[in-house]
Amino acid sequence: MTALSTGSYRIALIPGDGIGPEVIPPATAVLDAVGRRHGLTFAYDGFDWSCERYATEGAMMPDDGLDRIRRHDAILLGAVGRPGVPDHVSLWGLLIPIRRAFAQYVNLRPITVFEGVGSPLSRARPGEVPAAEGGVDLVVVRENSEGEYSEIGGRFGHGTAGELAVQEAVFTRTGVSRIADFGFDLATRRRDRLVSATKSNGIVHTMPFWDEVVAERAAAFPGVEWRSEHIDALAAKIVLDPSSFDVVLASNLFGDVLSDLAAAVAGSIGIAPSGNLDPSGDHPSMFEPVHGSAPDIAGRGIANPLGAIWSAGLMLTHLGHPEAGDEVLAAIRDALRDGSVRTGDLGGTASTDEMTAAVLKRVGA
Ligand code: NAI
Ligand code: MG
Repeated sequence: MTALSTGSYRIALIPGDGIGPEVIPPATAVLDAVGRRHGLTFAYDGFDWSCERYATEGAMMPDDGLDRIRRHDAILLGAVGRPGVPDHVSLWGLLIPIRRAFAQYVNLRPITVFEGVGSPLSRARPGEVPAAEGGVDLVVVRENSEGEYSEIGGRFGHGTAGELAVQEAVFTRTGVSRIADFGFDLATRRRDRLVSATKSNGIVHTMPFWDEVVAERAAAFPGVEWRSEHIDALAAKIVLDPSSFDVVLASNLFGDVLSDLAAAVAGSIGIAPSGNLDPSGDHPSMFEPVHGSAPDIAGRGIANPLGAIWSAGLMLTHLGHPEAGDEVLAAIRDALRDGSVRTGDLGGTASTDEMTAAVLKRVGA
């Protein structure tokens, strides 16, 4: 890998399916424009790994796929998924192998309400407003490498009355410790508040273990005010009082569900970004919008590119350029506040290109 301090980066692009290839060019255009202001240059290598490829060649990516992107500085992914290809094929044939082989054990999902984007919750206010006055600005830190998404298990007695399926959740001390450390450390750089999602009343082995390890790690961050909350009550509270949350720490499954819920609370899934991070920097991290391939609107040039653009902003921050990442977020915020250009998911009629141009002109392109 290139040292993080240099200004020249090689990025692997995996546009994927559906609207994925429509939202990646906007993200690279913004990267290039912001990069010019900060002395950063990006070289891109595109990969056609997708359900499209699976349909023609029988695999989402080639056998040596991971080796082809191992030395890149980061990966930018659009979305994968296509009607006719089972979703577990696209997930286990591409996303999960990348996340696991590259030790991307953090799934980071910032969520904020933007002025100009209507939250379905009448009391939710833009993220810049203090939380005490209803401003919604939180980040879900999801464990991304183990937990409930394990391959251990099996099915027995297919088609018989006695058929059964078993799936084992796997929680390790290493895995829980490192995600807890990441979450608490992030809290110290935000508002010193963290809530850990649990379900130790119903899931009697793994969740008490999660709680114990999180409590142990918390001791190293005495300045962070934190508590555990059961996932059911927590889900309800994210709807009723989203401004009361800052860092939300969660296992793989709980974090997956909570982050989509929180993104919906913020107004549109088309805006939400995510980073799959290997905080050690030993492997490339992968950045992708939260949304899927949206086959219902694909090919029409109307997808909201902001989720992919904000993901590129997260990538800049991860590569060691937080001021450049903040500039991307500020441009998104300003374009949404202005409100004259909005894609269909935000109640407007703008095209992907028009929405992209609204961001580009705010980063000096
Ligand atoms: P989806 O996120 O693709 O679409 C849900 C709804 O939101 C659709 O009505 C869609 O038009 C709209 N939408 C999503 N992104 C948008 C954007 N950028 N601009 C405007 N509207 C947008 O979720 P869905 O329909 O459940 O899944 C479609 C496919 O995507 C499936 O094959 C699924 O497995 C896959 N998927 C892939 C993900 C990934 O690559 N990480 C994540 C989620 C789903
Ligand atoms: Mg999800």
